[in-house]
Amino acid sequence: MKTVSLTIDGKKVKARQGEKVLWAALDNGIYIPNLCARRETLAPDASCRLCWVEVKGKSQPVTACTETSEEGMVVNTRGPAALRLARTALELLLASNVVDCANCPKSGSCELQKIAAHLKVKLKTRRFRKLLRNLPVDSSSPVFTYDPNKCVLCGQCIWVCRERLGIGALGFAHRGFNRRMTTFGDEPIGQSECQECRECVLACPTGALCFKDKPGS
Ligand code: FES
Repeated sequence: MKTVSLTIDGKKVKARQGEKVLWAALDNGIYIPNLCARRETLAPDASCRLCWVEVKGKSQPVTACTETSEEGMVVNTRGPAALRLARTALELLLASNVVDCANCPKSGSCELQKIAAHLKVKLKTRRFRKLLRNLPVDSSSPVFTYDPNKCVLCGQCIWVCRERLGIGALGFAHRGFNRRMTTFGDEPIGQSECQECRECVLACPTGALCFKDKPGS
């Protein structure tokens, strides 16, 4: 296996040739906020816009999940331009999501809490006007609940269901502000192709998908 050497936040690290900067950093204990990235995906969606980093020699920040590690590359995950973009992406996300950590089963293990702490952004940020979707919670599955108001549209559940398990019960519907994760035909999950394997709940980084029997997991 060929490797390349690069520097991230002053630390010399090695990465597999062709590895994206995000994984090179995470594998070496350097956290970069991310929601939509999957190591197995060759063409990343880059939809959450949280993983901005600065690369020496590049005039603009780049997303770490799409940037390939190169020999001699110098990466800064804490540059002001990268942080500004990541904070804005997070605050926009929070503006359209229900933030109710006190009553959320995933509080403590929610990736949004971790990212907000890392970027020093308040979960109840007021920078952008709050615009909630007020969608009904789907409790039709015997195994889990789906609260679309807490979904960050990362696509992790869809990918696991379709690509890893070959079931394909879940998908995205609509565009823009109305975009949401749902089932084929927008049926309740309990009446869909869902086989209750639980993998989508494990993949969900927020409180959108929660087990009924083990709410905090
Ligand atoms: S992890 Fe890079 S854009 Fe979402």
